[in-house]
Amino acid sequence: MQISTTLSERQVDDGRLAEILASPGFGIHFSDHMFTVEWTPERGWYDARITPYGPLTLDPATAVLHYAQETFEGMKAYRHDDGSIWTFRPEENAARMVRSSHRLAFPELPVDDFVQAVDELVKVDKRWVPDPAGEKSLYVRPFMFASERFLGVRPAQHVTFMVITSPAGAYFKGGIQPVSLWLTEEYTRAGRGGMGAAKTGGNYASSLVAQQEALAQGCDQVVFLDSQEGKYVEELGGMNMYYVFDDGHIVTPETGTILEGITRASIIELAGKLGHQVEERKFSIDEWREGVTSGRIREIFACGTAAVVTPVGTLKSASGEVPAPSSTELTMRIRQALVDVQYGRAEDTFGWMHQVC
Ligand SMILES: Cc1ncc(COP(=O)(O)O)c(C=O)c1O
Repeated sequence: MQISTTLSERQVDDGRLAEILASPGFGIHFSDHMFTVEWTPERGWYDARITPYGPLTLDPATAVLHYAQETFEGMKAYRHDDGSIWTFRPEENAARMVRSSHRLAFPELPVDDFVQAVDELVKVDKRWVPDPAGEKSLYVRPFMFASERFLGVRPAQHVTFMVITSPAGAYFKGGIQPVSLWLTEEYTRAGRGGMGAAKTGGNYASSLVAQQEALAQGCDQVVFLDSQEGKYVEELGGMNMYYVFDDGHIVTPETGTILEGITRASIIELAGKLGHQVEERKFSIDEWREGVTSGRIREIFACGTAAVVTPVGTLKSASGEVPAPSSTELTMRIRQALVDVQYGRAEDTFGWMHQVC
């Protein structure tokens, strides 16, 4: 892919950037540039460009505003101690975007073009990648949307793919704390044949009211069950789940209607290497209750790009509470192993890291 670059003449100055990177928060500040490429059936992907970051001008009839034909990805760029910059399994994000694109009736953006777009943008804005201390990183948000000006319900004939980046601070300020969960028995996230396995905005829009309910119940996050039987654990609003048993084996809910996390997939490999048998299968809410109560389930954790791995504490629902499991030992070991690979402090034996510059 041929990418043209127009540098911003109004880049954030070094003093202000240092202030931002000292306390970046999440999704508040955006780097100086953005990547854009467009698609039509006649031209395919065309006009790939890096330009100064700025607002888009959209016609009020732009299809995405009405029918939500869009997909996105979430990944991070990490600075290592020697100053080099790396992403974690970017081709997996690219492949997931291809799968999401198929579900959303979008054209396919080739994996290599996706990775190149991220690489080039991160290179241009490399001063926005924070120092590794305190698990800071540059969050990368690729997204694709129906940019055709048309109100008919059909796949858009003009599509835009963009990448923006935003410095991110540590997910946990003041140390890692178990997250408390609210089990929603009213709302579901995904149905059979629906969009659960795609990373598309609508899934997040539909999760908001359930997340609001979780917060009102004094919990951090919401857990969704399957929509058919209301019996099997699917995932959190933005993280996948893991259960560690007393004999060392680990269970993670099977896919189909859940968003298959790249962190989840990496943990399957990592835990296997640490000698744990990993099962991908249906996991019922009753098994959660009984497992923690009997002590058979020793640890529960959730995982995703944002938090990497986080221990799960109490589970609250309309029918009562399940206490936090007794341990977080393996959870913390897996978390450390992943973070060490991402920040270049441990050998990357799986070949997961991709050097940007
Ligand atoms: C619904 C949902 N599940 C799981 C995940 C974890 O995926 P990953 O590990 O690729 O970040 C995410 C986060 O991106 C998510 O939004």
